[in-house]
Amino acid sequence: MGPLLGLAKAFCGPALARSGTLTRLQTWVRPLPTRLYHLDGCNQDVLAIAQCLSKEGSNVVVMTGAGVSTPSGIPDFRTPGSGIYDNLKQYRLPYPEAIFDISYFRQSPDAFNTWAKEFFPGLRYHPNLAHFFIKLLHDKGKLVRLYTQNIDGLEVLTGLPHEQVVHAHGSFNSASCAACGQDADLDEYKQSILLNQNPRCACSEKAPIKPDIVFFGENLPDRFQMFQEDTAFSDFLICMGTSLEVYPFAGIADAVPRKVPRLLINRTLVGSFGSREEDCLLLGDLVEQVIQLCRALGWEQDLFDLKNAYDKEKQAGQ
Ligand code: APR
Ligand code: ZN
Repeated sequence: MGPLLGLAKAFCGPALARSGTLTRLQTWVRPLPTRLYHLDGCNQDVLAIAQCLSKEGSNVVVMTGAGVSTPSGIPDFRTPGSGIYDNLKQYRLPYPEAIFDISYFRQSPDAFNTWAKEFFPGLRYHPNLAHFFIKLLHDKGKLVRLYTQNIDGLEVLTGLPHEQVVHAHGSFNSASCAACGQDADLDEYKQSILLNQNPRCACSEKAPIKPDIVFFGENLPDRFQMFQEDTAFSDFLICMGTSLEVYPFAGIADAVPRKVPRLLINRTLVGSFGSREEDCLLLGDLVEQVIQLCRALGWEQDLFDLKNAYDKEKQAGQ
């Protein structure tokens, strides 16, 4: 990401976050080749970060993206080669993100429906240690709220209460008509997707039925605006597994007060991380970083206990 884009994000992030419509800043601002922000200014010492989180973090806001679900086997969007946007050739889309664009979906829902068949939540993917780390923050009484861009539903499978989660880009928990908005029966919708059909509404437009996820060009759910109060009263922000390419969600990272420590756990440096005094970074494989952080916090056993209990229940349910 270039400095121009980085500065744009740092300054207009919160404003874009208040806009409420799913947008990609990238389409407005062409990145320049180098970065303004430097790694060396940031705290990358996991022991110091753990100490800060344990001492100062009692109102923690967490924000996540597709990177937290790649360890569960769900590809993210933009990692070169493995990301979803690099693997859509068969749909001959005008541009990769068209698969999640509401006007394109209304014309040709097949590309999205084929993707939805593969990744319909609750079918074949399960939460990983990164998801259980967020549950652990909740169990330790530190989590204010999780804001996620993900629609795979894995975070609530950990037992995290729904009121602690804002699915900023919607979820598959319900379905409706893309034109008249009429609710559709979720089970019927799911069955038709699994049978490679393109379910349509009975309304005059015969419009395609879609899960209540947020397509590009649509508004985020009203609950998303809780981020303004949550960040204002937060004392620690954790951002995991996101490229921070998509607004208004990405603006959460810039909405926390400047004195609040921000921890990025991600393979790469993204967004405006590295531009603030209190920024901390754990760069690398997400699950490895989470394990190291929990070890430094003295929570490693608790983390694995949560995962083992889930696996045991899953086994018993089979
Ligand atoms: N460990 C560490 N980082 C990882 C891992 C991993 N195992 N897997 C992926 N990542 C990082 C990638 O390097 C990248 O920085 O997670 C980030 C994922 O970024 P994206 O693929 O852009 O996903 P996301 O940020 O969630 O996309 C945002 O774009 O297409 C829209 O609506 C869609 O919600 C999505 C939004
Ligand atoms: Zn309709």
